[in-house]
Amino acid sequence: MENNFLSLIKTRRSVRAYKPQPVPSEALDAVLEAGTYAPTGGGRQSPTIIAITDPKYRQEIARLNAEVMGNNTDPYYGAPVVILVLADGSANTFVEDGSCVLENMMLTAHALGLGTVWVHREREIFDSESGKALLREWKLPETLRGVGAIALGYPAKEAGQPAARKQNYIVRI
Ligand SMILES: Cc1cc2nc3c(=O)[nH]c(=O)nc-3n(C[C@H](O)[C@H](O)[C@H](O)COP(=O)(O)O)c2cc1C
Repeated sequence: MENNFLSLIKTRRSVRAYKPQPVPSEALDAVLEAGTYAPTGGGRQSPTIIAITDPKYRQEIARLNAEVMGNNTDPYYGAPVVILVLADGSANTFVEDGSCVLENMMLTAHALGLGTVWVHREREIFDSESGKALLREWKLPETLRGVGAIALGYPAKEAGQPAARKQNYIVRI
């Protein structure tokens, strides 16, 4: 079976090179709003979505992420927007809730002609004192735990082909 939505799912690819061109605010708003419609355990809406476009914080989050990796690269591949997803660590589904938010945003961005890639290590960043200091600066609760982030922007390269799906990915009983 094929339809536009299935094709969208199959053609989304992780983008690891971005044009510096900013993301129009309507497109960014649509991506962020799509995140808020993700399912969450018990309907608790445990996640908080933090959209970073301010160059000062864009640089700071890249620095903290690279520090976790032990290098000084830009883990967000030059994307003009970094969207962090954190969630209330007291919710027993905080990782799953945040992951659903991230996927909703990645698919919406793709539908709008934008590229994304999930970038990890937000847990380590926001469990650290430097991450907690940022939360205080942003007037957000320190009980938030990192789930993940997406880099967002216009792709600078053509998307590659997806890897072949593994054998026995699906088991029918
Ligand atoms: C939980 C998770 C963590 C990931 N972390 C990173 C990351 O830190 N950096 C990165 O470039 N890609 C990261 N990715 C992207 C994967 O490498 C990518 O989804 C995978 O290679 C499949 O490629 P595709 O997204 O193009 O289908 C992550 C993906 C997931 C789901």
